[in-house]
Amino acid sequence: MSGEKEKSTVTSAPPSPSPSSVAPSVEFSKGINGLQKVILRESRGSSAEVYLYGGHVTSWKNDHGEELLFLSSKAIFKPPKAIRGGIPICFPQFASHGTLDQHGFARNRFWAVDEDPPPFPTNTLNKAFVDLILKPSEEDMKIWPHSFEYRIRIALGPGGDLMLTSRIRNTNSDGKPFSFTFAYHTYFSVSDISEVRVEGLETLDYLDNLQNKERFTEQGDALTFESEVDKIYLSTPTKIAIIDHEKKRTFVLRKDGLPDAVVWNPWDKKAKAMADFGDDEYKHMLCVEAAAVEKAVTLKPGEEWKGRLELSAVPSSYCSGQLDPQRVLQGS
Ligand code: BG6
Repeated sequence: MSGEKEKSTVTSAPPSPSPSSVAPSVEFSKGINGLQKVILRESRGSSAEVYLYGGHVTSWKNDHGEELLFLSSKAIFKPPKAIRGGIPICFPQFASHGTLDQHGFARNRFWAVDEDPPPFPTNTLNKAFVDLILKPSEEDMKIWPHSFEYRIRIALGPGGDLMLTSRIRNTNSDGKPFSFTFAYHTYFSVSDISEVRVEGLETLDYLDNLQNKERFTEQGDALTFESEVDKIYLSTPTKIAIIDHEKKRTFVLRKDGLPDAVVWNPWDKKAKAMADFGDDEYKHMLCVEAAAVEKAVTLKPGEEWKGRLELSAVPSSYCSGQLDPQRVLQGS
C-alpha cells in the first residue's frame, strides 16, 4: 500500500487494469505450507513477496514478470529450516562469527506485521511497502540474552526497485550494551555464473572463508567466477554492480550502514552436499550480501542502528570490452 496511513490494509489490484492506473498494493495471503506471505505490487507491474517466517523476501519480479532473485527448487518452507534463496536476514550473527547457530536466528523466527512503526525518514510515497517487527522470545533470550526491537520496512518503488530498511534498537532494561553482526544474504538469479562479473570490489581487502578467514587483497579486475567463492570484502563502496552478460542485465546494489560485502557461490561439490539446493543450481545464483561483519555493531540501551539495502535491475547491452565499469557504478 502506498502512503504512511494505508500501510497494512489488505487490497489487491483491480482485475484488468491499464498499467498506468494501478495503485501500488499490498496483499496478505497464504504461501507454501500455509505460511503467511505479503505480496507487494507496484503500478508498472513489478512485485515482491515476503514471508513473515524469517521476514524473508522470496521473490522480486520486474515489470515483465521476470524473477530477479534465486530461490532453490529444493527450498524447504518448514520451520526451523531457513528458506534457501531470496533474501534471508542474518542477525544477530553472521555465519559462524559467534556462539549462535549459523547466521543467527532472525531468519527462522516468525516476524509480525508492525502496525504502528515509528516514522521513517525515507520517502515511501508511491511505494508498496510492508513493515515487520521481530522481538526476542523467552527462548531467544536464553541463547542471546538481550532485549531488542528489530523493525524492517520492505518497499517496492515505482520503477521496481526493492528497498529494505532495517532498524534495530537495544531495549535492554539491565543497562547493558549488545553487539551483533549482520547481512542481507541476497541470492541474485543469474543466467550462467561463468558469464557474470561483479564490479566495485576490485582492489579491496577480503577475508577468505575458504582459507581460515585469512586476509588477502583482490586484484584489479572485476570479479569473475570459476570455482567456489566465500569471501567477505571489507570497507566496500556503497554501490556494487553485478553484470549478467547473457541476460543483458545489471543488478545495482546500493547500501548504507553496511560496510562489508560477502560474495558466495557454493559451486558443484558444496551444492551436492546441501539437501535444500539442486546439484546444478549453483550455475544460476550468486550471493552478494550487504553486511556488517568485520566490526560488530554495538548498541547501548536506547540506541538504534539502521542498515539499508536498495536493489535495482537495469538492462545492460554489454559487448565484451565495451562496458565502462565507472558508468555502471556512478550512474544513478
Ligand atoms: C554465506 C557464508 O553467507 O552463507 C557461507 O559466507 C555459507 O560460509 C553460506 O556457507 C550459506 O549458509 P547457510 O547457513 O544458509 O547454508
